[in-house]
Amino acid sequence: MRTTSPDHAAGVRSKPVIRLLRRYAWRYRWSYLAGAGFLWLTNYLAVSIPGQIGHAIDALRASQPLGRNVAAIAVMGLAIIFVRSLSRILIFNPGRYLEYHLRQDLFAHLLRLPSAFYAGHRTGDIISRAANDIGWVRVMVGFGGLQVMNVALAVALTGWKMVALSPRLTGLTLLPIVAAVAAAQWWIRRLFTLSRQNQRQLGDISDRVLGSLQGMATIQGFTAERAFIDGFRRKNLAWLGTGMRIAVLRSLALPVLVLSGGLSLYIVIVAGAPLVESGALTVGQLAAFVALLTVLLPPLRSIGWMLSVLQRGRASLERLLELMDAPTEEQLSGSIRTASGRGPAIVLDGMTFSYPGAGGRPALEEVAAEVPGGSVVGVFGRTGSGKSTLLRLLARLEQPPPGAISVDGIDLADLDIAAWRERIVAVTQRPFLFSETMEFNVALDEHPDQQRLHRAVRDAALEPDLEALPDGLRTVVGERGIMLSGGQRQRVALARGLYRGGDLLLLDDVLSAVDHETEVRLVETLASLARSDRQPTVLIVSNRLSVLQHTDTVLVLHRGRLVDSGEHSALILRSGPYRDAWLAQRNVPPDEMASEAAS
Ligand SMILES: Nc1ncnc2c1ncn2[C@@H]1O[C@H](COP(=O)(O)OP(=O)(O)OP(=O)(O)O)[C@@H](O)[C@H]1O
Ligand SMILES: [Mg+2]
Repeated sequence: MRTTSPDHAAGVRSKPVIRLLRRYAWRYRWSYLAGAGFLWLTNYLAVSIPGQIGHAIDALRASQPLGRNVAAIAVMGLAIIFVRSLSRILIFNPGRYLEYHLRQDLFAHLLRLPSAFYAGHRTGDIISRAANDIGWVRVMVGFGGLQVMNVALAVALTGWKMVALSPRLTGLTLLPIVAAVAAAQWWIRRLFTLSRQNQRQLGDISDRVLGSLQGMATIQGFTAERAFIDGFRRKNLAWLGTGMRIAVLRSLALPVLVLSGGLSLYIVIVAGAPLVESGALTVGQLAAFVALLTVLLPPLRSIGWMLSVLQRGRASLERLLELMDAPTEEQLSGSIRTASGRGPAIVLDGMTFSYPGAGGRPALEEVAAEVPGGSVVGVFGRTGSGKSTLLRLLARLEQPPPGAISVDGIDLADLDIAAWRERIVAVTQRPFLFSETMEFNVALDEHPDQQRLHRAVRDAALEPDLEALPDGLRTVVGERGIMLSGGQRQRVALARGLYRGGDLLLLDDVLSAVDHETEVRLVETLASLARSDRQPTVLIVSNRLSVLQHTDTVLVLHRGRLVDSGEHSALILRSGPYRDAWLAQRNVPPDEMASEAAS
């Protein structure tokens, strides 16, 4: 977890905001500029009214007609309503567009992040950043931006008018306000830290909700509701606590700002009265000064609120940039693109690999093997022996160590990741099904090629299952494929792989949940694939020897090490895990083995 450095909190590091403005807000500069123009006009009119009031008072005292002054004040008041609305539209709307673009870019970026990133980030927290934090960034550039301009213009314009009336009085008036702003530094720091904490807690909550929804069957099945509610309450309470501290901090700001405004007013009257007496200032001018101060007070009072919006926006922006700055798969991979169309030869050169979060414990250790192009290779091993890890590395779902795996003589780590993935088909052990139709789940496309689709479904032995579904291929499979059995889900994933086709097929335990008859059909499919023109290289993980006996060669893994390899017929003659499995699956006593293998 990153800690907030004092630099961070103090707002010294404004770079994220500048980056945001450059990349997303610059394109709306004309809208902002026009908005700022109207805002200036709004404030200009607002500060001109006190002058007119001053003239009116002096005119009244001199018993002169008031008509022109009153008309001017009325016209200015009406104009303010109009230009004020325009300025708000021109400044707020870009914020909406900015939010749209930011979210679009974030989503596209998330799709390109490597699995190692997702191993270290919780999904619920990412969702919270995409929803809540982006919202706060919009508020920061919209409301926040408007307020900054508004306060700056109000201070500049009233200051200018005040100085024109009396520089001395202006200096005295601004003293309490300057003191309040200086005191606010501590307050801003604290607000930033708390805002960041609060957004993180919201991410925690979101993650808890998501995890509980995903594990609902487990929670209800094990009547663990109480424990989950209590756990949730703790997170929710932590969020509430921070929120309350922010509220207290915010409410502290208002009295301080109101007090400093009141003090300014007091100073104007105490210091202004002698000036009127000495004739340096007319009564009307003093009244105009007081009116100017009252124009200035509302924007000053909104400073507390404005700063809290800005600090929360900054905290949220940092959380967003943490995601958007994470290096993508392309940035981590090489750029060599290999030609497709032929099963690649693969060489594993003493590969050792540990998962980033595994504390250095290797999942694969010094694995050396050669897989000729176009061959069908079985991968066998007990649970946890590293079979899936090997396939994940070949599919570049994990980052292979440099030099550990070569494909047709080129280091896998140097290949362009997108081009490599175009060539391979990886059917994972726990396939993910989308809550869409069967058809979409196979083709991952709204408009699939029907001929290819039907062939893939047939080859994956899915046809008999389709007959039982109400709408065949158009049946929606429910939330993450909940309507389908484990074996059906596996074969949908297999059909997905066959529909796509590729030069390297990585099939992770796709035949573990099928009956004998289906298995025979699928093995035939794989054999015919191997004989096809394209001759893909096939790696198939399985613990079923009835499947592995049809492969060219089998790699035997044991606790992350390659302990044996060879043809099925040779492996069953040597003692080791493979032969043990053969004996167990055949139920043959060891002494009958030799005669069976010889026959
Ligand atoms: N994402 C991960 N992070 C850390 N360790 C992992 C991760 N995935 C797997 N492992 C560890 O790596 C080792 C090998 O796992 P792997 O999934 O490759 O086994 P497997 O041979 O496919 O097992 P199974 O037959 O049960 O599917 C295991 O000890 C496992 O705990
Ligand atoms: Mg596995």
